[in-house]
Amino acid sequence: MKPLIVANWKMNPQSLAEAKRLFNSVKKRLKNIKNVEIVICPPFVYIPTFQYSYREPEPSVRYGASIPTIKLGAQNCFWENSGPFTGEISPLMLKNFGCQYVIVGHSARREMGETDETINKKIKAAIRAKLKPILCIGETKKVKKKKEIFKILKKQLRAGLKGIGNWKLKIENLIIAYEPVWAVGTGNPCQTKGAKISLFMIRKIISQLFNHPALSKKIKIIYGGSVNSKIARDYIKAGFDGLLIGGASLNPQEFIKIVKEISKAR
Ligand code: PGA
Repeated sequence: MKPLIVANWKMNPQSLAEAKRLFNSVKKRLKNIKNVEIVICPPFVYIPTFQYSYREPEPSVRYGASIPTIKLGAQNCFWENSGPFTGEISPLMLKNFGCQYVIVGHSARREMGETDETINKKIKAAIRAKLKPILCIGETKKVKKKKEIFKILKKQLRAGLKGIGNWKLKIENLIIAYEPVWAVGTGNPCQTKGAKISLFMIRKIISQLFNHPALSKKIKIIYGGSVNSKIARDYIKAGFDGLLIGGASLNPQEFIKIVKEISKAR
């Protein structure tokens, strides 16, 4: 399978003009890059600008659609498709605006009160809307110190994916992002040796959860947390199926360097 590279722009940039510049700058540099799947997750408000509109023919679409290598994703969604939920965005809205992916349970949102239970509801809603959910899991520094990584990963996966095993889900549409909380946005990435151990744990837990080791191997597991172009390739070599990139995705040169490194890695 092609490595998956997901850009999480978080709450950046601050104007549409800057967002367009960033998007176009990445797009321009993508020529001749093959063998990678690239997903950009901008803030909600920029999604319509970059959308693939299924109703419009190819040439009239202004941004994303003409470049098959860039897909769109969102950074969060709600668990209902409509109703009196002030301030929320539904998975169906995202789907209708051309998104194919949605990040769920990012550590920044968990820190603001997102629970495993709401994450599970969001994962299910995303699947119902035919979006590919990217479930973020990972341990805090405290958990790492207590050597309880396996325990927390198991808890997050069990609760986040509760009930999913019975769904008629194309398992390859499910993505797990291993993001140690202490590595996200700190400039301190997880060493590949440690990341590899967590990757092994995650594979083991999901094969138990789905009770089908061969099938669970189809689930993509990606790494995120202070990835830069110098170390990006190491994670792919360690067995990860892709990367979730925050800070470095706001710098088109650095982001493309990462993409190039990955396209050479397999
Ligand atoms: P970072 O962010 O690359 O800035 O650590 C990762 C993420 O937000 O998922």
